[in-house]
Amino acid sequence: MTMLEVKNLKRTFTTKDNMFGRREVKAVRDVSFTIPDGGVISFIGESGCGKTTIGRIVAGLETPTDGTVLLDGIDIHRANPKERRELMRQIQLIQQDPYQALNPAHTIEEALAQPLRLMAKRKAGVSNAWIQDRMAEVLSLVGLDPAAILYKYPHMLSGGQRQRVVIARALTVEPKVLVADEAVSMIDVSLRLGVLHLLRNLREKLNISVLFITHDVAASRYLGRDGKVFVIYKGMIVEEGATDTVINGPTHPYTQALLSAVPVLKGLEVPGSQRFYVEKELSQDGLSEEGCLFASRCPFATAECRRQLPPLAGDSHKSACLYPYERQVTARMLD
Ligand SMILES: Nc1ncnc2c1ncn2[C@@H]1O[C@H](COP(=O)(O)OP(=O)(O)O)[C@@H](O)[C@H]1O
Ligand SMILES: [Mg+2]
Repeated sequence: MTMLEVKNLKRTFTTKDNMFGRREVKAVRDVSFTIPDGGVISFIGESGCGKTTIGRIVAGLETPTDGTVLLDGIDIHRANPKERRELMRQIQLIQQDPYQALNPAHTIEEALAQPLRLMAKRKAGVSNAWIQDRMAEVLSLVGLDPAAILYKYPHMLSGGQRQRVVIARALTVEPKVLVADEAVSMIDVSLRLGVLHLLRNLREKLNISVLFITHDVAASRYLGRDGKVFVIYKGMIVEEGATDTVINGPTHPYTQALLSAVPVLKGLEVPGSQRFYVEKELSQDGLSEEGCLFASRCPFATAECRRQLPPLAGDSHKSACLYPYERQVTARMLD
């Protein structure tokens, strides 16, 4: 069953801070995807490709220019205010910086009690004891000892503990979907795996659907192993498929370049993968609206690529490249 369905999402920002006046940024061009009930998908792509914008729209914190976000079949952006509040409870966003997400003047107990008191207002028969029990329960779920942590302030915790508290707070309201936007990027490497492991366990235990946003291929592979990967480039999906299929055999030159840039430990290389690099683009200005958005950086682009935007094509493994397979063969020959 599908928990979340996103159809033809678009978001254009108009900025006025430019000396030439208004400038339009197409942060999200046309993005569609689904997350099954209890399933996981990950978005990978470099900075500025629109990942956060998609995550915020899915969480109801940003409005789309066009397109729909359906949670369990209900359009979250067209629901009435009361319905919308309830829908927003069901989709929780976990952001990159766990320190910013917590009020430094509040203890962990206060941070967790706040959403629970709001819930208690709406539910009948909820007592203080229930709030205490629920706090202990969510903290145990994220691997923290309630007695040792409830009285503490955010600055007294490690980055990993803080992110666990943020996740615990999201769990207090029993969400159906978690959007984790670079949720482990700012955490010390030694603690990162623990938080990823936690997110994976929560999916299994609570049957929560997860949208995992990252620029870290290894993290998406770890958390999203049994799900799908979507590779985003300039607000478009350029490749999608089962996580292992895409990571082991990327067919879009952008994905190939992205995977090439990942430092790989000797002995852990993906067999048969090509390694090539693309130039970093200096600006998004002068971007051709006609052909493939990657053409200006692609080592294999032809005149045809600059003429038309390739559609995302394929069965379960899709690629928005005119000749994905041929390109791969060519890349191998160049290696
Ligand atoms: N509120 C905003 N106003 C104007 N431009 C924005 C806004 N939010 C994002 N953008 C622009 O949209 C593009 C995508 O940004 P973002 O979604 O944050 O990408 P990512 O998370 O992949 O780094 C960027 O060019 C960014 O500058
Ligand atoms: Mg981002």
